[in-house]
Amino acid sequence: MPASERTSDRPSERRGAARTAVVWEALRSVLTDPAEVLDIGGGTGGFAVRVAQLGHRVTVVDPSPDALAALGRRADEGGVADRVEAAQGDVSSLLDLVPPGRADVVLCHGVLEVVEDPAAALDTIARSLRPGGTLSLLVAQRHAAVVARAMAGHFGQALTLLDPEAQTGQPGQPSRAGRRFTSDEVVDLLAGAGFETRAVHGVRVFADLVPGALLELEPGAAQALVELEQAVSGRPEYLPLATQVHVLATSAAG
Ligand SMILES: C[S@@+](CC[C@H](N)C(=O)[O-])C[C@H]1O[C@@H](n2cnc3c(N)ncnc32)[C@H](O)[C@@H]1O
Repeated sequence: MPASERTSDRPSERRGAARTAVVWEALRSVLTDPAEVLDIGGGTGGFAVRVAQLGHRVTVVDPSPDALAALGRRADEGGVADRVEAAQGDVSSLLDLVPPGRADVVLCHGVLEVVEDPAAALDTIARSLRPGGTLSLLVAQRHAAVVARAMAGHFGQALTLLDPEAQTGQPGQPSRAGRRFTSDEVVDLLAGAGFETRAVHGVRVFADLVPGALLELEPGAAQALVELEQAVSGRPEYLPLATQVHVLATSAAG
């Protein structure tokens, strides 16, 4: 089993492994040959450093200087400082920072929720990829967020998330703080930017719901949860329960 999917002995890392196992499994399927990887909004390098440790070159573009400093430290500690480059900027300035059409794989994880204009961001990302290159897109999934808010007693927030366009009066432009996507919306946005969707996976279907004590105390529970997450990730009926949706899409120019 790859190191990226093995559950840690440390309790704090067990839930993290369950949350990211599905994404890593998908990434492994596209990171077969040495690749030029661009991690947009890569933050402190949680994905970037591990991708570099698999032998790929990674450029992280992020507007936060603090995040990039933490990325530098993490890359040093991980022994991959020579394969990780940091560039301060955001997705709107991406093509001023990196050459267009060069990336084999772009990661855009947890970023589309906060950018000014998701459609424009995907259009820019498409232009950063080589023809036939792959986008790994991870976004917050709206239906699960509605359930989570309601379960916590935040009924007003749940209602806003239920139909964000009606609340803001701006079709397609819900408030930035509340932006979540359904899988259909993501696939439509990708098609609009010239991407062909290859795979859609539900991420964190159960991982956010399981009590921490269970993962800490029950032998084998963390590994069993990883396997359960992987088993349901490709089943459409579980997609609305997933905290996040992950999509692999190919730049249609290829
Ligand atoms: C939720 S974090 C995700 C970090 C990382 N991708 C991950 O999955 O762990 C969102 C990141 O997006 C960055 N960000 C915010 N606005 C951005 C923008 N307009 N363009 C690119 N990155 C942005 C933030 O600085 C932050 O590091």
